[in-house]
Amino acid sequence: MHTEERTFVAIKPDGVKRGCVGEIISRFEKKGYKLIGMKMLQVTEEIAAKHYEEHINKPFYPNLVKYITSGPIIAMVFQGYKAVQGIRHLLGATDPCEADVGSIRADYAQLKEYNTIHGSDSVESAEREIAIYFKPEELCTNYKNMMELVTEDIDEGE
Ligand code: RTP
Ligand code: MG
Repeated sequence: MHTEERTFVAIKPDGVKRGCVGEIISRFEKKGYKLIGMKMLQVTEEIAAKHYEEHINKPFYPNLVKYITSGPIIAMVFQGYKAVQGIRHLLGATDPCEADVGSIRADYAQLKEYNTIHGSDSVESAEREIAIYFKPEELCTNYKNMMELVTEDIDEGE
């Protein structure tokens, strides 16, 4: 029996500034993942420190904070079967030069430091990251699939 997972995805400031938001979201929608939460926000240094706490002592951390706070991001939660692994696969490798052809990072980015999109790397990370960006009531937990909506919501008339 398969159960659905939730994962946290963020279109980073370069993706927002270059007008890639719609195209990127459509890739996840085409795959069938359910968008259950979305907001645009400016990441502060405090939020960045929580999100990327595992990298705080890495040499690239100061640049990472500068990048992620350089403009608004689109924060999203997607739900679906094996969504964590599946979305990481759609994102491609951290370095866009090594990302599979057709992946988002391969198609939209050139440099590891500015790789356009974030996706949680495990179910545990996803839960932690979702809690940083969303209150529980901001997620649409009563989401139904399209066929259920069509059959239940359309008034068949007289
Ligand atoms: P993300 O967390 O953003 O989805 O990326 P990731 O798992 O593929 O890569 P991670 O190792 O978690 O790195 C987080 C972000 O830091 C920047 N980075 N720069 N200069 C560097 O060597 C370097 N390494 C990582 C990237 O923006 C990367 O996505
Ligand atoms: Mg990561």
